[in-house]
Amino acid sequence: GKAAKVGGAPKKMSATVRDRMSIRDYLTEVFTHALRTAFPDLEDKTAAVAPTNEKYVAKFGDYQCNDAMALCKIYKDKGVKKSPLEIAQSLADVVNKELASNPNLAKVVDKIEVAKPGFVNVFLSRVYAGEQLKDIVLNGVQPPSLDKRLRVVVDFSSPNIAKEMHVGHLRSTILGDAICRLLEYLGHDVVRLNHVGDWGTQFGMLIAHLQDTYPDYLTKSPPIADLQAFYKQSKKRFDEDETFKKRAYQCVVSLQKFEPDYKKAWDMICDVSRRDFQKIYDRLNVTLTERGESFYQKHMEELVPYLEKKGLLELDDGRKIMWGDDRGLIPMTIVKSDGGFTYDTSDMAALKHRIEHEKANWVVIVTDLGQGVHFKLLGECGKKAGFLDPNKTRLDFVGFGVVLGEDKKKFKTRSGDTVKLSELLDEGLRRSLDKLKEKNRHTELTPTELSEAQQAVAYGCIKYADLSHNRNLDYVFSFDKMLDDRGNTAAYLLYAYTRIASIVRAAGVNIDDLVKSAHTTPVSLEHPKEFALAKTLLRLNDVLTLVTRDLCLHHLCEYLYDVSTAFSEFYDNCYCIEKDEAGKIKKVHTGRLLLAEATARVMKKCFDILNINTVHKM
Ligand code: ARG
Repeated sequence: GKAAKVGGAPKKMSATVRDRMSIRDYLTEVFTHALRTAFPDLEDKTAAVAPTNEKYVAKFGDYQCNDAMALCKIYKDKGVKKSPLEIAQSLADVVNKELASNPNLAKVVDKIEVAKPGFVNVFLSRVYAGEQLKDIVLNGVQPPSLDKRLRVVVDFSSPNIAKEMHVGHLRSTILGDAICRLLEYLGHDVVRLNHVGDWGTQFGMLIAHLQDTYPDYLTKSPPIADLQAFYKQSKKRFDEDETFKKRAYQCVVSLQKFEPDYKKAWDMICDVSRRDFQKIYDRLNVTLTERGESFYQKHMEELVPYLEKKGLLELDDGRKIMWGDDRGLIPMTIVKSDGGFTYDTSDMAALKHRIEHEKANWVVIVTDLGQGVHFKLLGECGKKAGFLDPNKTRLDFVGFGVVLGEDKKKFKTRSGDTVKLSELLDEGLRRSLDKLKEKNRHTELTPTELSEAQQAVAYGCIKYADLSHNRNLDYVFSFDKMLDDRGNTAAYLLYAYTRIASIVRAAGVNIDDLVKSAHTTPVSLEHPKEFALAKTLLRLNDVLTLVTRDLCLHHLCEYLYDVSTAFSEFYDNCYCIEKDEAGKIKKVHTGRLLLAEATARVMKKCFDILNINTVHKM
């Protein structure tokens, strides 16, 4: 093993709180410093700091470092006896010393305590919490300062031309868009790419069929209404008619050479799909730049000699293949035996292009978990080929589970067909309107307000259902569940948000005046429920950095739910306004209104990141 460096002058702590930094990340740095100072022989260890379970906050503080237990085990294995409590005390000693001498840390942390069997509990400063909330009210919710602005390519949605865009693509669209919005908010330079499946042999038969069905397609745009049916017809001919099949292959060759008439036919076919996709994106308020597989044709042609020169391609039964790290698994097929390219080829070319031409420091690809092996292989082959350097480019495959119907089987219509997304969204709209009418909202809202609420609830619920489930798991698509206004659903949270936002209005206070009063009136944090809510609000940046690490949006959804719960507890226990018997406002508690305003803003920011529209009235 490594020679343990013992002793030596303790390094100065380098951690400093930066603007709006994740408190958890900051404390992690503080405790890592403490760990390495107290136990110099464990130099490369990082401490873990986590928020304390809500129920125990009052007793055990707001954050906890639990490393002592694990360190005890490490020492035990080395034959050294140290109790967890002893270890926790050593960590606490370093942090306490720092606390006494470092105003930076003292600003954030009120005190720390050691608890059995070996916890170090951190209590946040009320003053600090008050300052942070004041900042939120005065300046809005702002992202933490960024270490380095990254160029991020996010490849998401990516349906296939001439085929139905299905619920899997919906999931990719919703997750990918939220990831983009998070990274954009954090200040990164995000390229949103729609890697549509617009290339491959199926276009040969589609073009041949187009030539027969609409002979004047070059001068008159073909009125294909149902591309799916068109696809089926051409596939039928392809399977049954040898001459047609040969012609189809000829068409592929001509298309891949970009011969104008063929290119035009292909464009027209793509356009039909494109228009349908765009309608869905417009309804979901998602923007994407289309850059499909076809874009990489030239790059695929160049990729082959590039890999060949590096000696990375092997001949296998007429195919040219490339292995990843494990030859026991499957290889990538770079060139088929007929000379054509594959999905593997286009993804290799795309990755190379994104790194070398797009200058991406980070590539994120959002597709179903079924493609996990393919993308693992892509990462390995990219490294082998030399264009992917993990120290310079982060590559994330963001996989997600299958969308299931309420029968726990693959999501299908009653008749067993794939569900058309436009019809799914329509049904969402219908159901959300029913729900609103059930609650008699149509009698209180204007038609415009009702329609806005209907859309916010419908699209919000569909998105939130996707985002709030751990993406690594399959999830059951259920309108009943997502429109339920109890529990962790958009229906519930949108109501909660609307109610919070209306508190300030109901108090008869002008919002600009309220904001101004934050200069002089402190945010009220005396009551334990007030302070608890405040600390929940301060966790926003903890959650955002966590999501940035694992790209799991459900953390943010859980957080949003935590905020609304903490708010309810606060609101049930603390009056914001007091009224007399006649219902006239007697007293306005400005410090509490400020807390409510900060809550509304934090929630709004979460909704914005999740691309869920809020409404003033519902
Ligand atoms: N078109 C593919 C599908 O429908 C998804 C493409 C994802 N992106 C990629 N670079 N392979 O499954």
